[in-house]
Amino acid sequence: MSFERLAPFYRAMERVLAGGKLQHCRTVLLPRLGLVREVLVVGEGPGRWIEAACRALPRARFTVVDASAGMLREARASWLRAGGELEKIRFVHASMPGVVPVVAGGFDLVVTPFFLDCFAPGPLAEVVACLAEAAGEEACWLVCDFRVPATGLARWRALAVLALAHGVFRLITDISARRLTDPGPWLAEQGFYLEEEETSEWGLLGASLWRRGGAVGARVSRVWGGLRG
Ligand SMILES: C[S@@+](CC[C@H](N)C(=O)[O-])C[C@H]1O[C@@H](n2cnc3c(N)ncnc32)[C@H](O)[C@@H]1O
Repeated sequence: MSFERLAPFYRAMERVLAGGKLQHCRTVLLPRLGLVREVLVVGEGPGRWIEAACRALPRARFTVVDASAGMLREARASWLRAGGELEKIRFVHASMPGVVPVVAGGFDLVVTPFFLDCFAPGPLAEVVACLAEAAGEEACWLVCDFRVPATGLARWRALAVLALAHGVFRLITDISARRLTDPGPWLAEQGFYLEEEETSEWGLLGASLWRRGGAVGARVSRVWGGLRG
């Protein structure tokens, strides 16, 4: 089985296993994105992020890349159900790392919702490099993904959840990751700096906004329900 065969059930699986927690992580930083025109979404799956972005970023155009044709079909259906116009979106069936679609001046925003966690360190570095090449000089990158807290019970909880998740996904799909790799060092290597992050679920889920170019401001870090610094 692969993501292809999972596509029709993916939404239902998420609802049963995680309720609204992953969708909160995907969408919590949407209000911080400001004005974006061209958005590249990679590994979008069945379309949960674009259905929210359709309303939150009404002036943007979207390029959605996924290696699974079934996931792209689901994403297209989600977009239409959300009231999205087909002229504002294109769906690209492609596997990363590989050839990334281009737009003049580069994308303003790259989004990777629960996608970078699929890769082992070597392929992850290549994926980040090829997506960064498609991004504009002052682009943002929204990473919504699992994370592992540095210490304590939350760390052990996250390691246990992720060992199970990666084990199951490696059995039924062809992902290369055996464990979670922090994409931060590769994003930094491509000129992105962390501007803002929001964590939830004992630090297991994190939405982080990275920015390239412009003045480096103070980093804002929030735990859902309270400010950390
Ligand atoms: C773990 S799922 C995440 C789906 C969705 N973004 C979410 O938030 O639930 C990973 C998605 O990335 C796609 N994918 C996996 N490997 C890929 C690759 N090498 N290139 C492009 N897409 C890939 C899968 O088809 C799937 O839709």
